[in-house]
Amino acid sequence: MPPPQPSYTKVTHNATYPAINPTSPALSTAGKVVVITGASGGIGRAAAKSFAASGPKALVLLGRRPDALAETADQVRASHGDVLTQTHAVDLCDSPGVRAVMDAVAREHGGVDVLVHCAGMLAPVEPLITADPATFLDGYKTTVVGTLSVAQAVVLANANTNDAKDVTFVNLTTAGILFPAFPGMGAYVSSKMAAVKLLQAFAVENANVRLHNVHPGFLPTAMSAQLARTTKLPFEYDDNFLVWVVSPEADFLRNKLVFAAWDVEELKARRTEIVGSSERPGSGELWFGFQGFPRYVGGNPLPGTLPPSVGNGVDSSHQSEERPPSKRTHY
Ligand SMILES: NC(=O)c1ccc[n+]([C@@H]2O[C@H](COP(=O)([O-])OP(=O)(O)OC[C@H]3O[C@@H](n4cnc5c(N)ncnc54)[C@H](OP(=O)(O)O)[C@@H]3O)[C@@H](O)[C@H]2O)c1
Repeated sequence: MPPPQPSYTKVTHNATYPAINPTSPALSTAGKVVVITGASGGIGRAAAKSFAASGPKALVLLGRRPDALAETADQVRASHGDVLTQTHAVDLCDSPGVRAVMDAVAREHGGVDVLVHCAGMLAPVEPLITADPATFLDGYKTTVVGTLSVAQAVVLANANTNDAKDVTFVNLTTAGILFPAFPGMGAYVSSKMAAVKLLQAFAVENANVRLHNVHPGFLPTAMSAQLARTTKLPFEYDDNFLVWVVSPEADFLRNKLVFAAWDVEELKARRTEIVGSSERPGSGELWFGFQGFPRYVGGNPLPGTLPPSVGNGVDSSHQSEERPPSKRTHY
């Protein structure tokens, strides 16, 4: 039997359950415009079906392969013919192309409320000693440059709408960025870490971005096929968790990394320990950080450490004279 997956919650799931049912009123996306990148791939397609069940105003699917995108759209329409579903074939590394798509979506639908970023690429799994420096950046280009162009495009497109809409941005990442390194995965894991750090900075700079990083589990998709030859895949999957994570219930998890298998009732019950206290900015859990490194220095919380109740999870102390009440220098 494989060892149990590391877990923050005592209860974990490998199938859907009532608290993440996308048809429940608490998770409704009625009136919202949801864009999914990588919708021609495994997780993106599952996410498209889950979000369709939550009843959005429009579901916009992005990927490069028009035939695979059309297949996703057909599957969505077969079960949720009432949801306006559109596809756009675009390479995320083509920044002007992504801008044009996102501007068109915002013009037609009045902005983008939710961006689920599933597009990704598994860089060759091989020892770094044999990695080809000439092609090494290929994976980085999709994962890092593609992520930047999507993030820029959605914020700039929303800025042109009447009410400069906020966007909830879900980044699919891997728990590998947290775990000790394992052989062969250096290119992939380092590119995924770069994307997370890039998005953290992006969210600090753009207060209208609510960012969530989600590890989906190790799932049987095209991407994982290479690894699945040697590793047992522990999870079946649907992506109802992603519908939950963009809901108001999960707002307290902004800027955090969560695993899709974690039990959401337990996460909600542990909200205070996750968010931390407004008296002690940065004291909550599920941070990316370094054990022992202070999150609060010289009377100021470090960027991104304020809990949502204090300032949308985004530190604005460098722009304001307000100081948190605690006089502690380090903890
Ligand atoms: N599967 C897992 O076990 C696992 C584990 C941890 C994290 N993740 C993450 O979850 C996300 C989804 O992975 P997946 O398993 O669903 O992979 P997948 O089935 O291989 O799908 C990848 C998707 O990314 C799109 N894509 C790749 N490069 C692109 C580009 N340059 N421009 C536009 N779209 C591009 C592909 O679309 P086209 O081919 O049509 O362009 C496809 O839709 C990824 O970020 C991955 O790193 C997956």
